[in-house]
Amino acid sequence: MSTAPVKSMDAIMALCKRRGFIYQASDIYGGINGFWDYGPLGSQLKKNLRDAWWQDMILRPCWGKAGPNGNPVRCVPVETRIVQHPKVWEASGHVAGFNDPMVDCRETKGRYRYDHVQVYVPASGDAGDKPVFAYVGDQPSEAKQLKKAQKTFGEVKSVLLSSIPQPWARVIGPDAEKPGTLTEPRQFNLMFKTYIGATAGENDVAFLRPETAQGVFVQFKNVVDTTRVKIPFGIGNTGTSFRNEVTPRNFTFRSREFEQAELEFFCHPDESVAWYKFWRDFRMEWWKSLGLAGENLILREHEKDELSHYSQGTSDVEYRFPFTAPGFGELEGIAHRGNYDLTQHQKVSGVKLEYNDTERGELLPNGARRGERYLPHCIEPAAGLDRGALAILCEAYTKDESRPSPEFMKIHPRLAPIKAAVFPLVAKDGMPEIGEKLHAELTGKFWRSGQIDFDEKQSIGKRYARMDEAGCPYCFTIDGDTAKDQSVTCRDRDSGQQTRIALDKVAAFLGEKIGV
Ligand code: GAP
Repeated sequence: MSTAPVKSMDAIMALCKRRGFIYQASDIYGGINGFWDYGPLGSQLKKNLRDAWWQDMILRPCWGKAGPNGNPVRCVPVETRIVQHPKVWEASGHVAGFNDPMVDCRETKGRYRYDHVQVYVPASGDAGDKPVFAYVGDQPSEAKQLKKAQKTFGEVKSVLLSSIPQPWARVIGPDAEKPGTLTEPRQFNLMFKTYIGATAGENDVAFLRPETAQGVFVQFKNVVDTTRVKIPFGIGNTGTSFRNEVTPRNFTFRSREFEQAELEFFCHPDESVAWYKFWRDFRMEWWKSLGLAGENLILREHEKDELSHYSQGTSDVEYRFPFTAPGFGELEGIAHRGNYDLTQHQKVSGVKLEYNDTERGELLPNGARRGERYLPHCIEPAAGLDRGALAILCEAYTKDESRPSPEFMKIHPRLAPIKAAVFPLVAKDGMPEIGEKLHAELTGKFWRSGQIDFDEKQSIGKRYARMDEAGCPYCFTIDGDTAKDQSVTCRDRDSGQQTRIALDKVAAFLGEKIGV
């Protein structure tokens, strides 16, 4: 169990707004629930995260490591549309199954996922005529209701709301005062509906995709037929997905519009478990490499009874967000999906999606091979870029009262939206000229992954503090000695330490630190 104090989500959200990481969408109209925009720093941070995913999953998968077959891992990208043929979502099961049963509270107007609501009842299980106390785990209702239940019953136990007899006339809702205010569970479809074309009749209904993955399955045959990919290989897809979440909450964690980065990795069924384990472990390493190392990050393997019937394994990379602490929230799911999706699309579309594996199959007397035909199994590492960015921001947020400006953002240099700042100590004595030259040199080298800031106004302390809050890892200050000894002061964001470094070594130093 972590002993570190839980960071204040209010403070993190305030900094995100103040420094232009994340704004409420449609802010001047009072906002719109479940939608968030990224400001100048946030959009660059998210782009850097997306680029890191693209580089490490598509361009140089797994940092060049060999897969379980001993060969380099091969992946290609696609970019598929938000609106697909409605049959895609029938085949994928989203039309039928993408529902969360919800219960509403008539007293507080709160809405809860039915399968998330638990109830404190007496340890014996029999409350008699007394009310029982519903709550949602990791929410303030948990501690509040426990206290009340213990006062009423002494020893208590927790059961799922769905396991107690109906109707719940004696259930006090998670945030309610009176019993009997919770409604029966109702189904909500999480897919956003839209209409294609001008007539907008019921025959023109389409959906905004709730995941990027299905675009890959639908284009699997085209990719195999038009490129030289051979099993095992992955197809990556990134982009916006939409879910009409019933209770969007916890900043960007549960949004209605969010960005996913998903890889569908296709392999022979016999090798699928080895690939599942490989991807599960790599994805955990990847998040660690971006600064989420430590006890706030865990890999949670699903229990057998949590798995879908077709799956031989699912793990979640989970981060301890301030609002889930001491629990964890999912950043990415790595699922063994068997050949469920290709089977479904083959069935519903009527198009054969089998792969002809010419490296396997029966060897004919003439030495040729009759390819083995099969529907490949799929391992799916499915990451959320908004949740990823949020975890990075939460992890980065640091408060150290011993510093002149206590709040700073320890963003990993690879992801930092501002890579470095160049500060002439004063705007005279040739310092701005040296600074401008250094700024131009660094911008020329590092513009692909972030900005190089230049600032000659305000006190140097204020300038450092501004960069600390922006998560800029290094500031280079030109002072009165620079012209004489050709060196600058390099200030490290995390330690606050200042060292002297040769002017002509600054670019190499920074390149090494940010990995470019
Ligand atoms: N194709 C599988 C799939 O979509 P998922 O676990 O539903 O799996 C993958 O979604 C990732 O997408 C999650 O781990 C999470 O990071 C992100 N995600 C899902 N719903 C989200 C939401 N409402 N808001 C923000 N991110 C979300």
